[in-house]
Amino acid sequence: MLSATSAPVIDATLPVVADHLPAISDVFYDTMLGENPDLLNLFSRSAQATGRQRSALAGAVAAFASHLVGTGSAAEVVDHVVERIAHRHCALGIRPEQYTMVGRYLMGAVRTVLGDAVTPAVAAAWDEVYWLFAARLIGREARLFAEAGVRDDPWLEATVVSRIPEADDTVSFVLAPADGGPAPAFRPGQYVTVAVDLPGEGRQLRQYSLSQAPTGGTLRITVRRVRGTGGAPDGVVSGFLHDRVGPGDRLRLSRPYGDLALRDDDTPLVLVSAGVGITPMASMLDHVARTRPERDVTVVHADRGPDRHALLADIRSHGSRLRSFRHLVWYENPGGAAGAQPGLLDPDLIPLEPRAEVYLCGPVPFMQLVRAGLHRRGVNDERIHYEVFGSEQWRPTPVAV
Ligand SMILES: Cc1cc2nc3c(=O)[nH]c(=O)nc-3n(C[C@H](O)[C@H](O)[C@H](O)COP(=O)(O)OP(=O)(O)OC[C@H]3O[C@@H](n4cnc5c(N)ncnc54)[C@H](O)[C@@H]3O)c2cc1C
Ligand code: HEM
Repeated sequence: MLSATSAPVIDATLPVVADHLPAISDVFYDTMLGENPDLLNLFSRSAQATGRQRSALAGAVAAFASHLVGTGSAAEVVDHVVERIAHRHCALGIRPEQYTMVGRYLMGAVRTVLGDAVTPAVAAAWDEVYWLFAARLIGREARLFAEAGVRDDPWLEATVVSRIPEADDTVSFVLAPADGGPAPAFRPGQYVTVAVDLPGEGRQLRQYSLSQAPTGGTLRITVRRVRGTGGAPDGVVSGFLHDRVGPGDRLRLSRPYGDLALRDDDTPLVLVSAGVGITPMASMLDHVARTRPERDVTVVHADRGPDRHALLADIRSHGSRLRSFRHLVWYENPGGAAGAQPGLLDPDLIPLEPRAEVYLCGPVPFMQLVRAGLHRRGVNDERIHYEVFGSEQWRPTPVAV
């Protein structure tokens, strides 16, 4: 809880901080990465170049402040955000001592942008907000690291056992721990970070969802090559994995993390995906087929066309082992594919059993469309679980997914 001294100060200064988030974020990253260039091996260089995730951290601190003074998100939303960030931080190997440095640069950026408005009382109040948030994250991250068995080194050396073409621009990599030990346990829906050393450019980290059920032997990721459009460069890590990595190569992985994790019960399940968002769904379906074949499952997928549809054979094979399985597919360009509906997915046509739990993954506009359709049909947010293959923005005025 925020102290009685800080609460009115935060209340009074929140609007001006919220208005200046982009400028604060720019100064924060420019000074922190400028003075500590090693951190460019931790933060995504592409996100820095595009400015895409730049306001995620400062925006979350402002949103947390707004929650603390009672004008922002409800406690359940905060719990969800803490969970999501903590999983992401663990997957990146963030350490508690790094919070001191980030806090210092963040407060420095607030001072630089807001100038004389940042009196000692204002600085102390925002420092308190930052550390309340940091304490929650550090605590949760410590527990997640402990559960994953991580003590010092968060990285795991893995050998690429095989490389499987799945669809246009999409390849799976089957990975086994290089020390011959068992693959780490995970919950279907979770992801690993892959740390790639790019020749001459340093290290970059990206997350990839595990696309098979946990089996204890190997882990499988399925990677779509990101092609740059309109003059933008191609994706660096997906391009590296596609062009340079094959059987026998080594990759450095995090343990599995992620708050989108299948609930293991017998409620009807609806798995909705678009594009490469099918990866966590394939893992969930595989797991259900192995462990609860009596569970009622509907898989709904949207893609540009049959050539882009990854893991289709897996979905069909897992589905064939279930007692009650429905599979609906939409293609923007069906090109004569049998059984698929043409055009964009229509959320009103998603079969919904009473009490169904829905898992959702795909581009944000796609998820917004499906979620709105589900709301109209009486499915509330407690029954909708989703993963964003990017950064989710949490702001003082909540932005819907
Ligand atoms: C939880 C999670 C799970 C994920 N699971 C999967 C998965 O299962 N499979 C999968 O394929 N992906 C998955 N992703 C996405 C994946 O992590 C990467 O984001 C994706 O592979 C792109 O990384 P990249 O390094 O290839 O592209 P980046 O180099 O990060 O490029 C990203 C975009 O930025 C643009 N860009 C880069 N630099 C510039 C510049 N200077 N100017 C203009 N534009 C620029 C590029 O053109 C590209 O469009 C997941 C992401 C998350 C967060
Ligand atoms: C209270 C402090 C912090 C907050 C509120 C915070 C918040 C966030 C948020 C909201 C994201 C985006 C998550 C998503 O993808 O949805 C993120 C990602 C990230 N955070 Fe933190 N963070 C904090 C501290 C730190 C620290 C101490 C570090 C270590 C230097 C760090 C490093 C990163 C990195 C590397 C990413 C991935 C994004 C990228 O590559 O640009 N964060 N954080």
